[in-house]
Order: sequence, then structure tokens, then C-alpha cells
Amino acid sequence: MTDANTPPSRGRILVVDDQRNMRATTALLLRAEQYTVFEAATGEEALAHLAGGSMDLLLTDLKMEPMDGLTLLRRALEVAPRLQVIMMTAFGSIESAVEAMRLGAYDYVTKPFKESELRYRVERALERARLLRDVDNLATDFNQRHGLSALVGRSAAMRDLTTRLMRVAQSDATVLIQGESGTGKELVARALHAHSRRKGRSFVPVNCAAISETLLESELFGHAKGAFTGAVKARRGLFEEADGGTLFIDEVTETSPTFQSKLLRALQEGEVRRVGESTALRVDVRTVAATNRDIELEVREKRFRQDLYYRLNVVTLRVPPLRERLEDVPALAEHFLERANARSPNPRRLSAAAVTHLMGYAFPGNVRELENLVEQAAALAEGDELLPEDFPLRQERLAPVPGASSMVSLEGQVSPAAGASTGPTLAQVVEDAERRAIAQSLERHGVDLARVADELGVSSTTLWRKMKRLNLRPPSEASRE
Ligand SMILES: Nc1ncnc2c1ncn2[C@@H]1O[C@H](COP(=O)(O)OP(=O)(O)OP(=O)(O)O)[C@@H](O)[C@H]1O
Ligand SMILES: [Mg+2]
Repeated sequence: MTDANTPPSRGRILVVDDQRNMRATTALLLRAEQYTVFEAATGEEALAHLAGGSMDLLLTDLKMEPMDGLTLLRRALEVAPRLQVIMMTAFGSIESAVEAMRLGAYDYVTKPFKESELRYRVERALERARLLRDVDNLATDFNQRHGLSALVGRSAAMRDLTTRLMRVAQSDATVLIQGESGTGKELVARALHAHSRRKGRSFVPVNCAAISETLLESELFGHAKGAFTGAVKARRGLFEEADGGTLFIDEVTETSPTFQSKLLRALQEGEVRRVGESTALRVDVRTVAATNRDIELEVREKRFRQDLYYRLNVVTLRVPPLRERLEDVPALAEHFLERANARSPNPRRLSAAAVTHLMGYAFPGNVRELENLVEQAAALAEGDELLPEDFPLRQERLAPVPGASSMVSLEGQVSPAAGASTGPTLAQVVEDAERRAIAQSLERHGVDLARVADELGVSSTTLWRKMKRLNLRPPSEASRE
């Protein structure tokens, strides 16, 4: 066995041969190459070694008693599917070698073999083992970032959501994700993609509220050269980018009926026509749409086309607001704190009192608000331990939540006044100033968000984000409600 002082192994190899001489010579040769080598005299002994799952390569003789090499190969791949196997065969037993390859061996060598040949084949097999391990790691990484494991929270409501999500992920059905702002709709859309058969292809998000309608149309469908002023080159649309993958149409209710009918046509026909182009292009796209509005109401009030609603709403996933699953708050807070700690020289801990404080809050801004609160607290708190007063809440606290107390009974009562700070925080002052500046500019320029952004010296995406966070709408839109 290796110990802490040995350099990292170039690979772990198990040599199996019932002929002691042959086994020892092969092992010696490989140890000279700095591999970590184990030996077994029988198939049974070999399987016991493999059960640990840490072996990279199995180098086994074919003719052995009582378990022969082919049986060992089959059983070894059952316990360790990623294992690389090289079969050692006697001269003239080429059929068995072929059979071994068919059963999943990576390679074979014919005895007697040259040292250099064995070295070469072993190194090649280990190279493949390393490659497979990297691919595995990448896949795990991808899943951790985008898959279900990215969705923190094991409340009953979240478990229902993830069960439904897994069920529809495999199909190509169009999914409509509904939920208040900041509940995690985009994360859900990414998880759908990560668990679908399209996961190796692109996930392409488009936010309908972030750009003007004309721009949105050419973004989605692309345009021909000269289709409009400024279209100096032809351009692929996002539908085409998403070919084979998933198109995530976010804030789909923030579009006009004219645009909606174009979108409907594209979805129904599986074809898109670039702006200014007459021929249509076939696209294979799975559509996921999201909205934080009451879309049924939008349909009733004729702001959203009913036919498009039916087309999008094949399956609905509702992401519950955080106040309906406050039991997720501790795990989410820990998760965001861990992330903040990873970037900071001052790691912080959450006090139980702070968790209780947070669990008594309604979170109008949902998970995003909790995320911001934790990040702010981690950046600004005085001590290593985050206390209730490090989390200034925007609104009144809720009445004590049934069930919540049992989760945070670690510490004594928290007085209702805990965390109520005296004056406005810096963040609140900044927010107020921003709100005032944007509102005034909106007054002046109305729906022309490009001019508003220009005047305020921010990009239109930043403007849109801020408006959303501050719950501001252009005057004409605000009057629709
Ligand atoms: N269950 C969760 N686990 C971990 N992080 C979450 C979870 N839900 C939301 N978040 C985080 O909260 C933030 C908001 O999530 P997201 O952008 O997906 O919300 P949304 O519903 O799309 O919001 P909006 O309607 O404002 O676009 C993101 O930073 C996201 O990573
Ligand atoms: Mg979103």
C-alpha cells in the first residue's frame, strides 16, 4: 500500500496470473516504471482487490483455473465499469483475444511479449483511464453547477418541484416556468437542460424584457444583410444558436401581441425566418419559457395571446416563493455564505439567532433577496459571526412561523426588535437615490429606455436590472396595470 511519503502514482495496476514467475516478472517491470502494482494469483483474489474501485488497469492472463480470464474480465467490469483491461494471451489464441475485446477489454498482448510492447500498451490504457476520469469530473462539475444539485433546498415544495422537473426533463415538451421574481426560475430552466438529452448542446437564454422589441426579433430570428439600417452583415438568431439544445425565453409576457404571433409561428413550425429573408430554416429546439406575472390574468386581459399560452404551457413548473418554504432558508443562507467565504479573506459563520431572524421574514424579493442579504452581511459585518443586526430587513417580520422554531431551537428567544436598526443603511440610501434618478429620467423619456440608459450613463441591461430590482416600469407600462 502507498503511504503519505510516496509520490503520486502514475497509475494503479493489478496483475493477475496463476503462474508465479510470470506474475512477478511483469509486476517488477511495471514497478520500475513507477506504477503502483498489485498482484493476484486467482480471479477471486483479483475481484477482492477490485471491489475498492481504486484500480486503473487490470492486466490479466487468459488461461487460469478455476476462474478464467474472460470470466474475470466480465465480473471485473461489473464491479468497476471504468476499469481498463489488458488481456495476456498465449501465442495462437487470437480468437480469445478478440472475444476479450468484444467483452470490453481495451487491448491484449500476446505472450511472450517484449518489455517495450507491454510498457507501450499499459501507458496507452492508463492514458485512456485518465481521460475517462477527466470526462467524469467534467460531467460532475457541469451537474454541480447547473443540474439539480445547484438547486439548494429540500422543503416539500422544492422536492415536488424537482420530482416534476426530472420527469419532464427527459421529454422534449415545452415547459412554462412560473414564479415570482427571484425564486430561481432561471436555475430551474438550466437544471431542465442539464438533465435532458440535449445537455451536450447549448442552453441559450434570451430575456424579452431586457431589449427593445425590434432588437429582440432580430436577436431571436437573426437577420439578413441590409434587413434594416445598421444590419451590415447577416446574423444568425438565437433560435439557430440553440439548434439541438434548449432556448430559454425569459420574461415571455413582456412582449407585444405582434411579436407573440411570430414566436408562435416559429414554435409551431419548428422553423425560423431571419428578418428580411424569405426562406425558412428548420431548427430543432426545445423551448422553456418563464414569467413572473400571473400569465392567466395576462391572457384574460388580452395582453398575452391565448394560443401562444397554450403552446408554451404544455407543462407548467411553479417555483414557490421563498415565504412558502421558509425551511429552505437555513440551507440557502449557508450556501450563499459558503460562496461568499470562498471569495473573501474573512470567513464568516451564521449565528443561530441570525437564522431565526431570517426565517421570520417574508422575502418579497425571494431567494435573490436572501442571496443579497447574505453577501452584504458577509462583506460588511463587524465580527466573524453574523448576527441578526447584520441582516437589515426591508419589511416587517412575519409572525412566528409554525415549524420554523423547531429548526432553530439551538438558541434562545430572539426579541422581536432584534435587527431593527435605527437609521437607513447605506444600501437603502443608495437604493433610494437610484430609484429617484431612474424615475425622473423615465418621466422625461418614457418608454425610450435607450435614452434613459444613455442619460444615466449605464448600459441598457444594467438599467433594466436596476428597474427590475427597484420595481420600476416605464410610464406607459405602469399604466397598463
Ligand atoms: N434553490 C436555489 N438554490 C440556490 N440558489 C438559488 C436557488 N434559487 C435561486 N437561487 C439564486 O437566486 C438568484 C435568483 O435566481 P434566478 O435568477 O434563477 O431567479 P428568477 O426566478 O429567474 O428571477 P427573475 O424573475 O427576477 O428573473 C440567483 O442568483 C440564483 O442562483
Ligand atoms: Mg430570471
